[in-house]
Amino acid sequence: MATRQLLPDDLLAGRVAFVTGGGSGVNLAIATMFGSLGAAVSICGRSAQRLDDAATALREQGVQVLTSVADVRDAAAVETAFDRTAEQLGPCDVVVCGAAGNFLAAGEKLSPNGFRAVVEIDLLGTFHASRAAFAHLRQTRGSLLYVSAGQSDTPFAYQAHVGAAKAGVDNLMRNLALEWGPHGIRVNSIVPGPVAATEGMARLAEMTGRDVWTRMVALGRFAEEEEIARMAAVLVSPIASYVTGARVVVDGGMSLGGSAPFNAALRAQFEETAKRA
Ligand code: COA
Repeated sequence: MATRQLLPDDLLAGRVAFVTGGGSGVNLAIATMFGSLGAAVSICGRSAQRLDDAATALREQGVQVLTSVADVRDAAAVETAFDRTAEQLGPCDVVVCGAAGNFLAAGEKLSPNGFRAVVEIDLLGTFHASRAAFAHLRQTRGSLLYVSAGQSDTPFAYQAHVGAAKAGVDNLMRNLALEWGPHGIRVNSIVPGPVAATEGMARLAEMTGRDVWTRMVALGRFAEEEEIARMAAVLVSPIASYVTGARVVVDGGMSLGGSAPFNAALRAQFEETAKRA
């Protein structure tokens, strides 16, 4: 689907965009979209190999790119990545907090460390990047975009850790939108539905299969990465200059019907696994 042409080629020309978790999945699709619209792109993540592969693909498309190996749980490493970005590309105009972790686990079996790992990556990681971004965004009057999830307001079974983390992400979004609005900084979150070909989706569909997800979506299909990335570009661009504090749902209507099919499919699987254990 050639959706990029729907937006002006120079929509983000001259902008510097920082994307956490930008080495793969939807975050890389967002970085790629921003690059195709003229932004220089700085991506951070845990895996040097993933970042290198992503950077090679971006450069082949003519995008100026910087990579930093940084785990968003490490506030100092995130700050260093922002400092490098300022030195090499200039202050950030756009910051996407997309790094996330997920797995399926029953609440009573989830270890404190497992719960903590997801909250630290999703929620603390988003805070660390936002905090490090503030000085940049105040200077550029730029914007933050958080990648949230349907779990933040709809309970999904075996996703208590993710729901707690993403609800925190959306709440942080609203708080900082309020606090930082007077500096001209906009803060929003985007809520993707099931996206084809991402690691996150592979993890969620590994026990239920993909049909359950398709049935939960009103439009009856998975999203292409580009469909999420296109809306991300709109939200960080001047098209959305008066949009802040918004949780923008781009889920093909998944949130309209709730998570019951997913819960039922998983419950059967978890009960079967428990019987065998
Ligand atoms: N079920 C239950 N607990 C799990 C688990 C699973 N499938 N996977 C990990 N955990 C627990 C571990 O057991 C550990 O807890 P413990 O010390 O009490 O045993 C804790 O989570 C941390 O695991 P670890 O593998 O050491 O953490 P990590 O920092 O290397 O990885 C995760 C972080 C757990 C979120 C991992 O899934 C990850 O790296 N995810 C990134 C990729 C991803 O999820 N992408 C999709 C984004 S939507």
